[in-house]
Amino acid sequence: TATETKNLRTPIVCVMGHVDHGKTSLLDKIRGTAVVNKEAGAITQHIGATEVPLSTIRSLCGNLMSGTVVIPGLLFIDTPGHHAFTTLRSRGGALADLAVLVVDITEGFQPQTIEAIKILKQFKTPFVVAANKIDRIQGWTPTKNGPFILSYNKQPDYVKTAIETRTYELVGKLSDLGFSSDRYDRVRDFTRNVGIVPISAKTGEGIPDLLMVLIGLAQRFLEENLRMTVTGPGVGTVLEVKEERGLGFTIDTILYDGVIKVGDTVVIGGKDKPIVTKIRALLKPAPNREIRVEERFDRVPKLTAAAGVKILAPGLENAVAGSPLRVAKEDSVEAIIKDVEGELEKARIVTDETGIMVKADTLGSLEAIINELRDSGIKVAMAEVGDIARKDVVNAETLPGSLNRVILGFNVQTLVDAKDYLQTSDIKTFNNNIIYKLIEDYEKWQKEQKD
Ligand code: GTP
Ligand code: MG
Repeated sequence: TATETKNLRTPIVCVMGHVDHGKTSLLDKIRGTAVVNKEAGAITQHIGATEVPLSTIRSLCGNLMSGTVVIPGLLFIDTPGHHAFTTLRSRGGALADLAVLVVDITEGFQPQTIEAIKILKQFKTPFVVAANKIDRIQGWTPTKNGPFILSYNKQPDYVKTAIETRTYELVGKLSDLGFSSDRYDRVRDFTRNVGIVPISAKTGEGIPDLLMVLIGLAQRFLEENLRMTVTGPGVGTVLEVKEERGLGFTIDTILYDGVIKVGDTVVIGGKDKPIVTKIRALLKPAPNREIRVEERFDRVPKLTAAAGVKILAPGLENAVAGSPLRVAKEDSVEAIIKDVEGELEKARIVTDETGIMVKADTLGSLEAIINELRDSGIKVAMAEVGDIARKDVVNAETLPGSLNRVILGFNVQTLVDAKDYLQTSDIKTFNNNIIYKLIEDYEKWQKEQKD
């Protein structure tokens, strides 16, 4: 019936893999965008979300696609491959119904490939491997946007052999990790064997095949999980808190279950305590647009999972990126506040007795920086999400040890009141929107101080 079709759940597909193996490029090719070019340091440092409608998938698949497909589309989640962002990868992995593991076929398995597989194993997430960058195999002659098999059959034997050899290396690695796999065209039952689809995010080859395998997995997933329709109260994760001109504070959210409506009461993780507020507007990015960089949104009265959505509501200035969002019915508000408090407690960052201060734009990036700093033997005594404010400088002045009297800011601003106060303070601040550069800058300064 009409209502059932309306509430069909959009499966969440998480794209995972080692840094630079081509996750964002693959999504760019599917969406027809160039998000890669807008990334600081040419690496992904946040979780992204894009809704790809079935019509886009159909047009990319061409006549490879046959039979009835009931899913409305796929919600793709982009994750960072840089090793620092373990928490964001697990968070992405935890949200996923299905996954695409991107492996650069010329490099094979790398540390974060293995980390991703462990996450997928932990959550029992069905996945497909995209063996990317086949255009970089010596001698490869591309056929733009075509199915893999058609291109493959046109290659000389030595190129075919190179593809086969490298594919079997991946099969071997997957087997070491407990998965039986094969090139997708030799797989009969994708619930027993992981399919490996050779692709190029540059030429588009193999993407039709990859999408076909994904749609197959998605259909099966929906049938098996009996989660064809969603009707419960909405549940989501806050990706980012942003101040938008003319709108005030908003949160970019992934709604991963249930339904959310304008006027709903929601509970969101806040800086000091959970925020309880009423939704004023739901702003949905256009299809095939990455919520992380999109500027145009459509106002909608209601949304069904899964979806990426920008939410407008009073009191969001204290919302914490990386925290949960839950729709609460009148009689459940108290219980949900308790739940959200519990989840925030679990996510609380453990700091050291002595050390420096770190400020970052989201919980995920804050955790990533702290982990990186600790790996380099640098301790962190104070860590918070948000811009560098005067009170932060005042707090940093209490940090013992001259090398600790610094504030590292990742993707945040130094507010005017802090700038004024800093003029007369001995606190030094470092700002960068590339995680490893921020740490390098601090280490360089630390070394200079010691010398
Ligand atoms: P992180 O998000 O930082 O982990 O990286 P990523 O996996 O999203 O990789 P990204 O898409 O940023 O691509 C990394 C580099 O590889 C870019 O320079 C891309 O242009 C290049 N690249 C990606 N896919 C292909 C491909 O299929 N062929 C070739 N030749 N280059 C590719
Ligand atoms: Mg990326």
